[in-house]
Amino acid sequence: MTVNGTIEIQGYSKRVVVIDHPMVQHKLTLLRNKDTGPKQFRELIKELAMFEAYEATRHFQLEPVTVTTPICETVAYTLKGRKVAIVPILRAGLGMVEGILELVPAARVGHVGLYRDPETHEPVEYYCKLPDDIDTREVLIVDPMLATGGSAAAAIDFLKKEGVPSNRIRLLVVIAAPEGIQTVLDTDPDVTVFTCAIDECLDENAYIVPGLGDAGDRIFGTR
Ligand code: PRP
Ligand code: URA
Repeated sequence: MTVNGTIEIQGYSKRVVVIDHPMVQHKLTLLRNKDTGPKQFRELIKELAMFEAYEATRHFQLEPVTVTTPICETVAYTLKGRKVAIVPILRAGLGMVEGILELVPAARVGHVGLYRDPETHEPVEYYCKLPDDIDTREVLIVDPMLATGGSAAAAIDFLKKEGVPSNRIRLLVVIAAPEGIQTVLDTDPDVTVFTCAIDECLDENAYIVPGLGDAGDRIFGTR
């Protein structure tokens, strides 16, 4: 699989964007290292999230405005009425919110609480709070890990039930397994996935290989 721009996964072209920028790949390597402690891990997740949001907002439209510089009046461009919601999947998705808010400070933040059942690996919902006008917003679902894809697919289904059209949903992850990408695009082929890497596979516990271990535990220092 290429790490250059968009790739094709079993017929879904242009729906997976791998961020191949050298700074991103360098930071991702630091993140993977088992000796990276929670403080640096959090900083890296935040930085990578900002890079990803930069790519995931590339389609936003601009409109011309008149601006007066210290030299003269000119026509320049501003964002054309895009309202954004960031929706972290708890817990680990929380680590990505701050970096994206630095890029899109007016964004609203909704929360979807899901955890994977340790036996079945199926997502279990335990919390949800979204902005009232979520159906009018561009939605960035964020979670560092896309493993089986069960959690992301559940979050996407949830947002669609709240009225968000799937072509306004973007999923931002740091590492994806091929299985997870397939699940998400099978769930909804109109969702675009942004990731810094597509890893090899899942292990017997549905952890991503080589991955980075348990993202939530590494962000919050719980193990
Ligand atoms: C992790 C991760 C994703 C999910 C990915 O969360 O942050 O939400 O697993 O796995 P999937 O693609 O197989 O669904 P976890 O359930 O460990 O909860 P946590 O963030 O609270 O640690
Ligand atoms: N959740 C994680 O935090 N890491 C994985 O590798 C898979 C699911």
